[in-house]
Amino acid sequence: MPFLRTLLPQDLDQVVVLDHLGQSGGWTKSQYKPFIENNSPACAWVLVENTFIKGLLCAQILPFEAELQNLVIHHECRRKGYAQLLLDKFIKCCLERSVLSIFLEVRAQNEPAIQLYSKIGFTRNGERKNYYTDGQNALLMQYILPPYPQGSG
Ligand SMILES: CC(C)(COP(=O)(O)OP(=O)(O)OC[C@H]1O[C@@H](n2cnc3c(N)ncnc32)[C@H](O)[C@@H]1OP(=O)(O)O)[C@@H](O)C(=O)NCCC(=O)NCCS
Repeated sequence: MPFLRTLLPQDLDQVVVLDHLGQSGGWTKSQYKPFIENNSPACAWVLVENTFIKGLLCAQILPFEAELQNLVIHHECRRKGYAQLLLDKFIKCCLERSVLSIFLEVRAQNEPAIQLYSKIGFTRNGERKNYYTDGQNALLMQYILPPYPQGSG
């Protein structure tokens, strides 16, 4: 069974490979460093299966809003609900920190990701023309969180 945990320094080599396999223009090791520092708004979780990292989610969580910055699942493990597991964890963390809205940018032609975010409850709220270096447009999507119930632990 896969399990979720926060990103650790010893994960960085695996995570960089996973990210580059998953999408063009993956991040470098140094770009992940803020995500393993304590007391930073940068948060990251990995999904581990049989000691291997199969999924990664990185985000910035500020007092009232959050931004999903990176989400990738190993190509052999797709359509098993792993991205949804990571997004559920992220959204729960946002709720606990009283975040009101989550924002993200996604390539306008990235149909799997757009389907995923729509299923979770993200809605489109804008588009940036020629946003990526290859000329593709970015869709802007937003998820509005319900108020966190008082007294919830
Ligand atoms: C997009 C991505 C993260 C989805 O990960 P995943 O673990 O396969 O997604 P899940 O299994 O949790 O899918 C949940 C839902 O998303 C949608 N979905 C996911 N992949 C899909 C696809 N290829 N086609 C259509 N819908 C898809 C479906 O609604 C799916 O629910 P269902 O399986 O019950 O139909 C994965 O394809 C990936 O890593 N892609 C490369 C990196 C990337 O594009 N990241 C997003 C950057 S913004």
